[in-house]
Amino acid sequence: MKNFKGADVLSTNDFTREDIEHVIEVAEKFLPVAFKEKTSNLLENKLMAALFYEPSTRTRLSFEAAMNRLGGRVLTVVGAEYSSLAKGETLWDTGKVIEKYVDVVVMRHPQPGAPHEIAEGADVPVINAGDGSGEHPTQALLDVLTIKKERGKIDGLTVALVGDLKFGRTVHSLSYLLSNYDVKLILVSPEKLKMPQEITGFLKKQKIAYEETEKLEHALQHAQVLYDTRVQKERFADPAEYEKYKHYYVLTRNLIEKYNGKMTILHPLPRVGEIAKDVDDLPGAAYFRQAQNGVAMRMALLALVLGKAA
Ligand code: CP
Repeated sequence: MKNFKGADVLSTNDFTREDIEHVIEVAEKFLPVAFKEKTSNLLENKLMAALFYEPSTRTRLSFEAAMNRLGGRVLTVVGAEYSSLAKGETLWDTGKVIEKYVDVVVMRHPQPGAPHEIAEGADVPVINAGDGSGEHPTQALLDVLTIKKERGKIDGLTVALVGDLKFGRTVHSLSYLLSNYDVKLILVSPEKLKMPQEITGFLKKQKIAYEETEKLEHALQHAQVLYDTRVQKERFADPAEYEKYKHYYVLTRNLIEKYNGKMTILHPLPRVGEIAKDVDDLPGAAYFRQAQNGVAMRMALLALVLGKAA
């Protein structure tokens, strides 16, 4: 990556440690603008297309907030049925056309690899805002920013990734990023929802210490950061199978306090029952702060790919 100007952001596998640290440094400078304490017109006259072909609250609105608060403007399409993809247009052709209208494209799509296809057609930067069960690079970057803000460091931490590691795209992207650091990973999931071998094979290659377990208590005993995830209902072919797993793990205040009341709890959100409401008041419950950090991270990525950040 290194030179971000004009680059696509499609996979965190493309990021070196130097890249991650540069993006975090830029994001930290944007925090006062993201948190509504300062104003900026850095992206004045820049236009972003937000193509969201799967549901989203945080990613779409934080990208739109980031662009608007930096003085840029946004065109949004929500739902593939309202685009010409529904008439059979290819993603490549869509990219070729959209590049004529806007300066940057942000895309969420249910099919893994869809943003890569649009990026092949478009000469403007394309940012992957979540491609099915593939990746969610901008989420993982804001997750690493949040870990750094909450814990003051990343090296030396034991991080537990919990829940649906098979279909959960955020944990795929986060694994790639964390493999640039001296961390230990505890991968907690039911057997049927284990981390894909593509990711565990990568962790092995990078010599990252990791263990796989079904036991949430093991993670609560040993990790300083617990990254919880929702079981991805929309990826299950059999609704009965989803019902079996949806509340396989439920984090409660009692459970956290029994093992490690000082643990940092992250979640990309939305949560659908896997973190009880009584956890929210714990000092380590950082998931709403995490969502807020997303605006600064998306400001940084937009400014970088548009060549407006050093
Ligand atoms: N974390 C995340 O991607 O949330 P949304 O699906 O609401 O964008």
